Amino acid sequence: MSRRPGGGGPVCLRSATDPAWVALALDRFDEVLADHAHCEKKAAANALSILQAYPEVPGLPAQMARLAREESGHLARVLELLERRGLSLGRDRGDGYAQRLQQLVRRDQPARRLDRLLVAAVIEARSCERLALLAEALPEAPLRRFYAELAQSEDGHQALFFRLAASAHGEEAARERLDALLEAEAALLRGRPLTPTIHG
Ligand SMILES: [Fe+2]
Ligand SMILES: [Fe+2]
Repeated sequence: MSRRPGGGGPVCLRSATDPAWVALALDRFDEVLADHAHCEKKAAANALSILQAYPEVPGLPAQMARLAREESGHLARVLELLERRGLSLGRDRGDGYAQRLQQLVRRDQPARRLDRLLVAAVIEARSCERLALLAEALPEAPLRRFYAELAQSEDGHQALFFRLAASAHGEEAARERLDALLEAEAALLRGRPLTPTIHG
């Protein structure tokens, strides 16, 4: 398939997900669903954390407030799905993929702000790719529609984070750093075992 991984936004992922991940995710979908709920929770929390850290960027506070609300909405809907399946959420086991990407965030400002926005953009792009794969492969039509809708929403989020990075740091600086982070992301993913999680 020639479709570009990670949606149509400015963040163009350097690798496509291994098809074996899709087979594993379908086989152990209950585990993927619980992990997905935790991902949406962390996306909502990260939006508020970015609002807290960088209120000086024009437009950022309102956009992060709206994003936190949208991600909380996703969280509520995934939790409903879990409930309908008689599943409980369980504890957050952490997201090693996202943690490793966060380690690439530089310590000193303004590089730190640029990196936090771009790492968020990259995670949204990978989430978009994975959710779109589920949208194609899940056996039940309502679930396929749900995941297609969420994939589109995450595509919008990667574009939003890139726009904020480019407006605060300049388009060229943002693109250059994004390139380096995308290389690192592809290498990171190659080195990780496949697991029944959104980023595994
Ligand atoms: Fe989301
Ligand atoms: Fe998102």
